[in-house]
Amino acid sequence: MQKPTMATAKSLRSPLFIPFLLLASCLSSANGEKFKANVTIANGLAYGFYRYTCPQVEFIVRKYLMQVYRRDVGQAAGILRLHSHDCFVQGCDGSVLLDRSPERTELPNLSLRPQSFEIIETLRQIVHSQCGRVVSCSDLLTLAARDAVFFTGGLDYAVPLGRRDGVTFPRINQTFEDLVAPTAKTTEILTKFARKDLNLVDTVALSGAHSIGIAHCITFEERLFPDRDPTMEVSLFNSLRQVCPAPGATAPVWLDFRSPNRFDNLYYIDLMNRQGIFTSDQDLFEDPRTRPTVISFAANQRLFFRNFAIAMTKMGIVDVLTDGQGEIRGRCSMRNSDVNDLESVVEQDLGPSSSASI
Ligand code: HEM
Repeated sequence: MQKPTMATAKSLRSPLFIPFLLLASCLSSANGEKFKANVTIANGLAYGFYRYTCPQVEFIVRKYLMQVYRRDVGQAAGILRLHSHDCFVQGCDGSVLLDRSPERTELPNLSLRPQSFEIIETLRQIVHSQCGRVVSCSDLLTLAARDAVFFTGGLDYAVPLGRRDGVTFPRINQTFEDLVAPTAKTTEILTKFARKDLNLVDTVALSGAHSIGIAHCITFEERLFPDRDPTMEVSLFNSLRQVCPAPGATAPVWLDFRSPNRFDNLYYIDLMNRQGIFTSDQDLFEDPRTRPTVISFAANQRLFFRNFAIAMTKMGIVDVLTDGQGEIRGRCSMRNSDVNDLESVVEQDLGPSSSASI
């Protein structure tokens, strides 16, 4: 992937700002004390759901992700985004992971990082090899997103578990209907988030996920061409126009140039300086309904962190499947029935004599 470009001359921090020793202590705290959001969780979910069936699951996830994020901290942003796309479309049921889902080919999902899918599948293999097929792909994605926040500097929060993986695909175009476009203004954002039981504070907090990661020119070009969006600060505009010289450009830029790989509240400082990348970001400051929350998060990182953890917990329980619903997939990219179909096709192709010789 092309290296993201700084939007201004401000210096970047080292990609992995957490020193190794701190990481080691992060790992030992995988099962330690965490912030628990005061949220009514869905029936069938529980904190410590795998206490008896896979007690080490959170430790395994954290240990593996520590290696992944140490190698490339950008993967944390990819995983966090993947989790939100999963939850907004047909609930947090791992449907976004399915190869054959229409979700995978619709525009908003084309820029999901391919490595994010591989990371979740590798996690599944590790966890299932140690515990058997008891942990769902949707739970693994939820845990991985929490650890993405934690490893980049955010709060360590407890995650209720027990999600089961979906066996149905979303409708064609459901991805467009449920996800918000980066060109959207606050009214549309609040409406779409409210449909998922996420209120105004949740909406502003979750948008703070854009504290890490990248965006490609094409996702915000309407703010650059033909003229500068007046709600974009001039020096940011000039830098972005250098990286994205013409409509259709595909270069990546940081979403939060002040601290692109660090999960913190500087994203809200960006918005107050009219240095948000998307219309959907900047309008949260322009709109009088959301502006006070933006300002309060810019002034108080602890407040932002707590509200982010609450909002993530709420987002993580949207339309979840539990108990006897759905399934625990044996491969995150395929429903179990598709795997069985595939295997029987392979067997037929090989024929009885060749399968006997394997
Ligand atoms: C108003 C709602 C939202 C809109 C319009 C939006 C839109 C986008 C777009 C267009 C990108 C850039 C894609 C690319 O060019 O590669 C992006 C990146 C990202 N989004 Fe959002 N998003 C929203 C909400 C969320 C939420 C709720 C989360 C997580 C809780 C999230 C996490 C991220 C992250 C971490 C990235 C960086 C991904 C990477 O570096 O690969 N976003 N978002």
